[in-house]
Amino acid sequence: MAASIFAAVPRAPPVAVFKLTADFREDGDARKVNLGVGAYRTDEGKPWVLPVVKKVEQMIANDNSLNHEYLPILGLPEFRANASRIALGDDSPAIKENRIGSVQALGGTGALRIGAEFLRRWYNGNNNTATPVYVSSPTWENHNSVFMDAGFKDIRTYHYWDAAKRGLDLQGLLNDMEKAPEFSIFILHACAHNPTGTDPTPDQWKQIATVMKRRFLFPFFDSAYQGFASGSLDKDAWAVRYFVSEGFEFFCAQSFSKNFGLYNERVGNLTVVGKDADNVQRVLSQMEKIVRTTWSNPPSQGARIVATTLSSPQLFAEWKDNVKTMADRVLLMRSELRSRLESLGTPGTWSHITEQIGMFSFTGLNPKQVEYMIKEKHIYLMASGRINMCGLTTKNLDYVAQSIHEAVTKIQ
Ligand SMILES: Cc1ncc(COP(=O)(O)O)c(C=O)c1O
Repeated sequence: MAASIFAAVPRAPPVAVFKLTADFREDGDARKVNLGVGAYRTDEGKPWVLPVVKKVEQMIANDNSLNHEYLPILGLPEFRANASRIALGDDSPAIKENRIGSVQALGGTGALRIGAEFLRRWYNGNNNTATPVYVSSPTWENHNSVFMDAGFKDIRTYHYWDAAKRGLDLQGLLNDMEKAPEFSIFILHACAHNPTGTDPTPDQWKQIATVMKRRFLFPFFDSAYQGFASGSLDKDAWAVRYFVSEGFEFFCAQSFSKNFGLYNERVGNLTVVGKDADNVQRVLSQMEKIVRTTWSNPPSQGARIVATTLSSPQLFAEWKDNVKTMADRVLLMRSELRSRLESLGTPGTWSHITEQIGMFSFTGLNPKQVEYMIKEKHIYLMASGRINMCGLTTKNLDYVAQSIHEAVTKIQ
């Protein structure tokens, strides 16, 4: 028989975070803990369907006026408008001046991808694959690949995490912006930076915006955790709104995977803020072309859930409460873990656990210590030392703290 025409296809390495979850699932040890996956878990270690989502799902199921016709290419209008509104704020000048547009996308990833495709085709010249794209060091690993697959050839990193001080390297970041070629694209985490859990303060954002404006750098916000950083939607959108007030044109990719718990429904939105309505409409017309050949038109269920929730004051209030429940549980796990490590006398300082925000913490564990945690303790975390605080529960906190203590004291 002739060899397969695919015989020369090399096997791609597995995606680390999904591999980690698969390994966790296969682990038969009763003590096992998954601190890898980027999803919320209850104190029982279970996924959570938000009560408001359950309620709205029932409303949708009982609404006989709905059907399964195709949505418009750019998505459900009520979803797009409401999603952009929670990013930009009710009284956003950009909304009032009618110079924003939105594209419903398949998750935050889809929003990033549509934005990246557009920029490659139409930004800084046509098909300018040489425009540098800067991602934070470290960042969510998909940022690189999404922009590379969209055709960008020059993906660079900017300084972000200062390992020694376990905080933001503001000066390194600003220096990189000063040195970047004009019109470079900068991917900025809007809040709850993944994986470090460290965000610039408002004053630091102001410094960032000043340099970006002077150097003609393009901000592309990635907002995957609005509500998770502080528990408040408005506080978490501060940076995005500040950039509007400073007159920037920018993109903002929003994910509703985490703050609505709609991971597998793939609900995202790409907000475009431009100088005027005419510019935005031309941009959207090109984005429509990109969507048409990518997924043609988006799925409706998740977008309906989000649109229904955001457009009713009562449901909106319920949702904000649900978000706060998640954010508060994360805060509690942070303080509980920190106090356990401190009372065990685990070498090092652990204040960063409570200073960091959002779902993740960068523990500072090195790859060997991570390996010890997985192999000896059945506690799964990313090689970078990132842990998902939601994987902690009142039942496993002692075990996790004791295991971190052992990893740090036994393995250098
Ligand atoms: C920083 C960041 N951006 C984007 C996403 C993508 O989210 P989605 O699942 O909605 O595509 C994630 C998800 O983990 C993320 O952490």
